[in-house]
Amino acid sequence: MKPHLVYSIGLIVIVAAAVGVWQRWPSTPPDWNVAELAILKSLSLESLPVLPKDPSNAVADNPLAAKFGRQLFFDTRLSANGEISCATCHQEERRFTDGLQKSQAIGVTDRHAPSIVGTAYSPWQFWDGRRDSQWAQALAPLEDPNEHGTSREQVVDLILNDAEYRAVYDKLFAGGRTELNVVFGNIGKSIAAFERTVMPSPSRFDDYVQAVVGGDTARQGELLSDDEKWGLRLFIGDANCMQCHNGPLFTNHEFHNTGVISFPGDVPDKARVAGVQEVLAAEFNCRSDYSDDPERQCAELEFARTGVELIGAFKTPSLRNLENTAPFMHKGQLATLADVLRHYNDAPDSMIGHNEAKPLNLSQRELRQLEQFLMTLAAPVVTPTT
Ligand code: HEC
Ligand code: HEC
Repeated sequence: MKPHLVYSIGLIVIVAAAVGVWQRWPSTPPDWNVAELAILKSLSLESLPVLPKDPSNAVADNPLAAKFGRQLFFDTRLSANGEISCATCHQEERRFTDGLQKSQAIGVTDRHAPSIVGTAYSPWQFWDGRRDSQWAQALAPLEDPNEHGTSREQVVDLILNDAEYRAVYDKLFAGGRTELNVVFGNIGKSIAAFERTVMPSPSRFDDYVQAVVGGDTARQGELLSDDEKWGLRLFIGDANCMQCHNGPLFTNHEFHNTGVISFPGDVPDKARVAGVQEVLAAEFNCRSDYSDDPERQCAELEFARTGVELIGAFKTPSLRNLENTAPFMHKGQLATLADVLRHYNDAPDSMIGHNEAKPLNLSQRELRQLEQFLMTLAAPVVTPTT
């Protein structure tokens, strides 16, 4: 064969291969069809319903309680050494997380601090859902020796003896019941009122969905790059993320085993299978005397699943909080988002129970596109300043 013919054939092969790659990856993603558009809308913050009432907390939506709760959230006097507040581990500038693998205050805790943004929507609190309301949740760290390390007696004493706090307390909880557990519960209820105001604000993704709905193509192009759109396409399609991360907060508020590996030396975490037993027996749960709901509507508790399949299952976190919240997962096992996506791509066997996620076989490029899409969900947190 003549050399130039060899070169020509070689060239044709290279061009054909390039076209093949290009066809797999056309630079512009296709438009969304009707079914996909419905999915995009379901993920948009516009679809977030009004925060459901919490009948177990009479001051849940009282602005004065929210203000009081905010003060308590940042008050280091509510701790054994006078140095720890909720904000030690839930730092506003880190979207209410602490940047550590396992949180640390007076001692080292067992798990990673999740963001509290939007968690008022969740029927269960903690990675294993061992509390069924935010007011009951708020009481646990106060008495945990590794966290605030204080006691309910000390906390209640502080509130009742601080003139400013006492005045607000009496105003909020008219009737002035001062029994230890009632006051302690009311402290949790005020903190919960504050947490109910901590919500995500619209992100670039939400603006993009608006632009798609409104048919504004120019704006769509400004808001999301092609790679981000491909990432979104994977997220709602082949990557199967929506099996668990769905709805406007990108969580189904349910418990799943995703096979995250424990640190060497750590006993694998039983998670929900233990958490559900704890919440059923919890002193301040929805059925307790400290609920403000005379009817004790506790459907969540009543119908809570308790099966062994919940071993190693953690609460699906929101994906609207990924900026400044590394490391990720229940013990902060994965340092970066790229690590998280690699984890899903491989879907390793779980150390305990079964990994519900299946291997994805995505390319490096697809993983990067997914990561880029996730970052379009970043937006400031809305909190009242006073
Ligand atoms: C030592 C650090 C630390 C302190 C102090 C702390 N937390 Fe946490 N917080 C954590 C960790 C770690 C978790 C997860 C623990 C788990 O799931 O087992 C958590 C979980 C939560 C959750 C559950 C969020 C969800 O999605 O389930 C809320 C809400 C919360 N904390 C609020 C508070 C409040 C209110 C205070 C103060 C009264 C507080 N925290 C004090 C570390 C801390
Ligand atoms: C079977 C349900 C399920 C599927 C499918 C799933 N996730 Fe998750 N996701 C979870 C649960 C549960 C956790 C917490 C696991 C843990 O801490 O051990 C989590 C954690 C995460 C985190 C860490 C968030 C944080 O704040 O720590 C990210 C990021 C994430 N998932 C993204 C994705 C993406 C992207 C996909 C699709 C490729 C996906 N998930 C598929 C249930 C799921």
